[in-house]
Amino acid sequence: MGLLSCVVPLLLCGAAPLEAAPAKSSYLPGTGRFWHITDLHLDPTYHLTPDPTKVCSSSKGVPATNPGVFGDFLCDSPYRLIQSAFDHMATLTKPDDFIIWTGDSPPHVPAGELSTDLVVQVIENMTETIRQHFPNIAVYPALGNHDYWPQDQMPTSTNAVYRAAAELWRPWLQNEALLTLSQGGFYSQLVKPGLRVVSLNTILYYGPNKVTENMTDPAGQFEWLEKTLQKAARSLEKVYIIAHVPVGYLPWARRTTALREKHNERLVSIFRKHSDVIAGHFYGHTHRDSIMVLLDQQGKPVNSLFVSPAVTPIKSLLQPYSNNPAFRMYLYDTEDFSMQDIWQYFLNLTEANERQSAAWRREYVLREAFGLADLKPLSLLKLGLSFMEQSTAFDSYFKHFMVGYDSSVTCGGACKISQVCAMLYLDQLAYSRCVEKGGRGGIHLRGHFLNISHEKGLRVSKLSRL
Ligand SMILES: *[C@@H]1O[C@H](CO)[C@@H](O)[C@H](O)[C@H]1NC(C)=O
Ligand SMILES: *[C@@H]1O[C@H](CO)[C@@H](O)[C@H](O)[C@H]1NC(C)=O
Ligand SMILES: *[C@@H]1O[C@H](CO)[C@@H](O)[C@H](O)[C@H]1NC(C)=O
Ligand SMILES: *[C@@H]1O[C@H](CO)[C@@H](O)[C@H](O)[C@H]1NC(C)=O
Ligand SMILES: [Zn+2]
Ligand SMILES: [Zn+2]
Repeated sequence: MGLLSCVVPLLLCGAAPLEAAPAKSSYLPGTGRFWHITDLHLDPTYHLTPDPTKVCSSSKGVPATNPGVFGDFLCDSPYRLIQSAFDHMATLTKPDDFIIWTGDSPPHVPAGELSTDLVVQVIENMTETIRQHFPNIAVYPALGNHDYWPQDQMPTSTNAVYRAAAELWRPWLQNEALLTLSQGGFYSQLVKPGLRVVSLNTILYYGPNKVTENMTDPAGQFEWLEKTLQKAARSLEKVYIIAHVPVGYLPWARRTTALREKHNERLVSIFRKHSDVIAGHFYGHTHRDSIMVLLDQQGKPVNSLFVSPAVTPIKSLLQPYSNNPAFRMYLYDTEDFSMQDIWQYFLNLTEANERQSAAWRREYVLREAFGLADLKPLSLLKLGLSFMEQSTAFDSYFKHFMVGYDSSVTCGGACKISQVCAMLYLDQLAYSRCVEKGGRGGIHLRGHFLNISHEKGLRVSKLSRL
């Protein structure tokens, strides 16, 4: 973010160490896996030096607080941090895993310190670094708002950056995908029979992008998306939506969509219309860990959405909290491609710097952390509704939101309402009702919600035992 504003069935090859196995190893077989990495934000200037204002360009002259070999909370990622993340991932990777990579490679520095060439060089460096660590693994990237110069200003037709990305990602993508990528920065590709990745260029809908501000369908991506989803449905495929800037509302702000509001509304309506074919949404950009549930217009939960925390630990001086460096693995059902679980990994940056060694660890396993039976939309809706009543579950959600950055930072009252409303309501009408009613808005009132039963149609029922 612009801070503040801003493959194939699992082989039982036994190649990965035991550490990769979950607590309850009930996942094999019928389980597929993929990694999600996002917001690497390499700062090539990062180096240890006695003058704390000179450690990294991304601190913009602010003195680094506690710089070490793996980084600082006021700086973007040193190369060493990114390498240590990929080294750890590589030890846990199995031959049939794949990777989704949702963008933002260059550092947060003033436009004058970058150029189209420098931005392309950083994307190239990250692409090569990923290929060196995962030579035989399929990677599906999406472009971020920092993957352009000047940042955010992604155009609606071909340009040096889209063309460079298409060239760099040629080993991972097929010709049809490379063609739309070089023209509009988006693509779709079959991962394996029955599963398609749709990589959207949501920077076309991002508020700071002046180029597209008055357009109804920049680069024709909405039309392309609908056609792609219709075609996937006809071919009996399921789709994973991947993109950098997420749909919906920012969880730490009030009434602020991550995308431009009118484009957010359009995207929500497309996702609702085609929710049957979408088996999951995966985003980055906020640098924090959060969940969203897409409800249809009747309030029925139809899609599960996941926002992965960043590898970069950067925060601005005025932000109250940041995130420890993080990446994650998703486990999915190889029959219907629904999400089974998330294994979230993190690096305790303070500790890694103290010890001069990076011990990446599992932070939590999602189902275990919240006692969920599955990650289906209904389960996540119930989890979100329970947050208004149960503070312990929400407190742990908020701790994960910051990737364990600082346990003394808490979120209650208005902060919690913003989080819960952003989790459950992605469109303007339902979100507004939610914040007006203090976290109980939308069509979810006083512990009731509309229950859709196929036989009986709409009914209102009491939410038992949240
Ligand atoms: C990427 O950049 C780092 C320095 O920032 C350098 O050490 C490394 O060799 C580069 N890697 C590639 C593959 O270009
Ligand atoms: C978009 O419309 C507004 C209001 O009419 C105008 O001020 C602005 O210059 C337009 N932007 C572009 C890029 O055309
Ligand atoms: C990270 O390490 C520091 C220093 O050892 C410790 O104080 C802190 O509690 C750790 N945080 C997490 C989330 O493990
Ligand atoms: C919804 O309604 C169905 C049938 O009317 C019922 O079996 C189910 O338990 C209800 N679900 C909830 C969450 O109340
Ligand atoms: Zn970012
Ligand atoms: Zn971003």
